[in-house]
Amino acid sequence: MSELHIPVLLNEVLEMFSPFSGQKNLVYFDGTYGRGGHFKAVVEKFSPVKAYATDQDTRAYDQALQTWSDEIKIGRVEVHHKNFLEFVTENKAAEKIDMALLDLGVSSPQLDQADRGFSFNKDGPLDMRMNQKQELTAAKIINEFEAEDLIEIFKSYGEVQNPARVVRAVVNDRVAKPFTTTLQLAQLIERVDGWKKKGFHPATQYFMALRLVVNRELQVVEEVLPLLIGQMQDKGRIAVITFHSLEDRLVKNIFKNSNDGFLVNKKVIVPSENECKMNVRARSAKLRVFQKGAEPEKPDKFALRRQQRDMNSEVE
Ligand SMILES: C[S@@+](CC[C@H](N)C(=O)[O-])C[C@H]1O[C@@H](n2cnc3c(N)ncnc32)[C@H](O)[C@@H]1O
Repeated sequence: MSELHIPVLLNEVLEMFSPFSGQKNLVYFDGTYGRGGHFKAVVEKFSPVKAYATDQDTRAYDQALQTWSDEIKIGRVEVHHKNFLEFVTENKAAEKIDMALLDLGVSSPQLDQADRGFSFNKDGPLDMRMNQKQELTAAKIINEFEAEDLIEIFKSYGEVQNPARVVRAVVNDRVAKPFTTTLQLAQLIERVDGWKKKGFHPATQYFMALRLVVNRELQVVEEVLPLLIGQMQDKGRIAVITFHSLEDRLVKNIFKNSNDGFLVNKKVIVPSENECKMNVRARSAKLRVFQKGAEPEKPDKFALRRQQRDMNSEVE
């Protein structure tokens, strides 16, 4: 089983945290530890005095505990098995945070390991839980939700234009045989919707919608960001990497409309062509960075020109 996860937009995240270079007593919070690629790089580059990591996946948590056992003993690193929303709501970081990172979505091991049930081309249980201890699974949604609710889920979270035929087939088939596996659902979708776009499996958007609902992915981001802003140090920065247009829009709007800080990068940061070639999973990544506190005033170029003109006319 692959345990490899290549951190996405790593140089860009480090660059966005570069104002903290050389500063002492820094506090870092990584809400999505995964396999710790970003965590390790930030800890090594900025040597924060305290680094907090959380992940709701038990495998990610166990790996973090093992990797950082020495630093955990001396209190430099703290690792939690929690949703980042819980971590922030419970105010687990005792100090104000300087650098925070949320690298949203699922990790490569979660996608690649068939038993997690995220992938429509690997046979596994219809699960999709990031937190293996939670009750709601994709199978529960598919087998128990009303047809209207399923239609709504696929339309609003998967942006499927017309999911009614698939939902009708699901509701019909599940009476005789409940859905238990990923391939069972993927094959039904393929049978009903057929292939419309080359290279784009018809189950892609349906699986995305289910995953977002199973893990409440959009809701936790919407709830956590205002709370996290409150726990940041003045000039502290929050970097968020998204992989889904709905998620990116949400992050952008929360940051743009906040009265407590400003978006550092007015234009969204995306991976280079080279990064996308090396790691296809980077293709849809987008990075937005928020800084707490007042935005430094930009020099007004007209005022500068006026000043220059006045000075020149005084000389004449
Ligand atoms: C894209 S991966 C992060 C990869 C990581 N940055 C690295 O370099 O290895 C996302 C990870 O965040 C976790 N995750 C996603 N949403 C979460 C949430 N709301 N709370 C805690 N962990 C979450 C997932 O379980 C997964 O392990």
